[in-house]
Formats: sequence, structure tokens, C-alpha cells
Amino acid sequence: MKLNIRTKADTTILFQSSEIQQVAVNLANNAAYAMREEGGTLSIGLSSITIGSDSPFEESMRPGRYVKLTVKDTGTGIHPEVQKRMFEPFFTTKEQGQGTGMGLAVAYGIVKAHNGVIEVESEVGKGSMFTVLLPQYDVLSTKEQEEETSLACPRKERILFIDDERAVVEITKTVLERLGCHVTAFTDASEALNAFIEHPDSFDLIITDQTMPGMTGTALAKEALDLRKDIPIILCTGYSETVSPKKAKEVGIRELIMKPLTKQEIAEAIRRVID
Ligand SMILES: Nc1ncnc2c1ncn2[C@@H]1O[C@H](COP(=O)(O)OP(=O)(O)OP(=O)(O)O)[C@@H](O)[C@H]1O
Ligand SMILES: [Mg+2]
Repeated sequence: MKLNIRTKADTTILFQSSEIQQVAVNLANNAAYAMREEGGTLSIGLSSITIGSDSPFEESMRPGRYVKLTVKDTGTGIHPEVQKRMFEPFFTTKEQGQGTGMGLAVAYGIVKAHNGVIEVESEVGKGSMFTVLLPQYDVLSTKEQEEETSLACPRKERILFIDDERAVVEITKTVLERLGCHVTAFTDASEALNAFIEHPDSFDLIITDQTMPGMTGTALAKEALDLRKDIPIILCTGYSETVSPKKAKEVGIRELIMKPLTKQEIAEAIRRVID
């Protein structure tokens, strides 16, 4: 069996995540299994694409940069009836005891948790191609960019960061730390607020997501400002969310930035609010 791997630079970051590796491994295992009898070629591609508002993929996808992973085989192909059900947990066409049927269900769960999509094209007898798209966060940068933005937190400012998506928290924390900031991060808004209530003077800046279960970023900002009216707050909103700049300003929020956040945007917003 032949193996082709094509990659382009700049897309490695997400693959440091063991979960994303698991997606790739599950897809590759399935591809290999589909070619076990006749042999064939497994091709794995990794590239970076930009999705505009006329995306051919799911309409719900936010425009922006995405990492695209493709896993292609020249194996048996997948019958349409199987395609309909293959992402279900425990669905398998393998003989009893041969497979758990969890490979694709797990892959699907991980991709969804990273705000991505997974699609399949397949023809019986010809083979299949799975395409995974994941929002790309610009963590990697050249040395120059590194130097340019490294002064975002020149005094090692202490940041309270809140986003309900664990993947976003992990990635943004890495970005902020590279920018020289000291980060305390939460996925739960009320836990974050409690931490702030307990030690309001141990933070220099709050960066919060707007849409979260239990408490919005705006509500959190209000509570925090009640306690310390000088605390700078940056609110991050999704593409389709509407928080008017006027409303944000009334609450006392200093900056609104749109997700997915790039390193450059975060650095600039931080500098504007702490200067
Ligand atoms: N590349 C592929 N080519 C052909 N069929 C596939 C391919 N990928 C998935 N399938 C079909 O989808 C079904 C479900 O895949 P999934 O990975 O969830 O479970 P499995 O491979 O059967 O079991 P396990 O992953 O636990 O070994 C497979 O049984 C197979 O019928
Ligand atoms: Mg499998």
C-alpha cells in the first residue's frame, strides 16, 4: 500500500492536540481497512483555506481561515445507506468482535467540539475521501511577528480569560502567554467571576467571550465593573452575534473583537486598553 502525505506550512498547530491526532488516526485506520484486500493508495493532505460567505460547506460555518485535513483512499467505497449511518456510535459493518463502530462517532464529536465540519465523498468500488475543516487560530508566527507583538504585555499584565469552549481557551492561553501576558483562564463564566470577586486586584484585564451558557460576557462585565470600575474589559463576539458597540460602551466594555481571534488582533486590542 502506498502512502502520500502533503502538507503546507502554518497548519501544524491544531495537530499538537492529541484529539485532532485521534481524528486523523481513526480516518486513516478506516481508509487502510477499506483497502486491506485489494491494496491501494492512502493520501493524507493538510492545507489552509479561506472560507468566504459563499461557502460550499455547511452554511453555519463562519467565514475565516480553516485548516483542511483530507484522508483519501482507493478502497471499497461506502454505500449511501452506510454513509447515512456511519457517524452513529456503535455503527459498524465489520463482523462482530472486529470493530466497536466508535471510530467515526469519536472523530465527529471531536471535530464538532472544535467548531469544525467533517464531510465525505465516496463512490462504491472507487474509494472515499473524508474532509475535515477546523477553524484556524494563528498561533504560529515568524520571529518578526513574535518580536512585533511580544510587547503586548510588557509588564506581564495579568489577564482573566473566559470562553466556554475548551479548545479556544487552550489556544488563546498559549497565544497570550507568548505575548508576555500572565493568564488565568476559565471555561465557566461564574467560576471566573468568583475568582475575580475574591481577588479583584490580582487582574489587570478581563477578556471574555460573549455567548456562554449561564452568563453572557456582558453580564459578567457588568458584575466585574460593579466591583472595580477601572478594570479594562475586552469582549469577544462570534460572527453572527450582535452586541452593539454602543451597548458595550454603556456597560463599560473597552473593546469589542470578533472571533476567531488572531494573535495580531488580540495584541492590538490589549495594547489599546492597557495604554
Ligand atoms: N474509508 C472508508 N471506506 C469504506 N467504509 C468506511 C470508511 N470509513 C468508514 N467506513 C464505514 O463506516 C463504518 C463505521 O466506521 P467507524 O470507524 O465508526 O467504525 P469501524 O471502523 O467499523 O469500527 P472501529 O473504528 O471501532 O474499528 C465502517 O464499519 C465502514 O462500514
Ligand atoms: Mg474505524
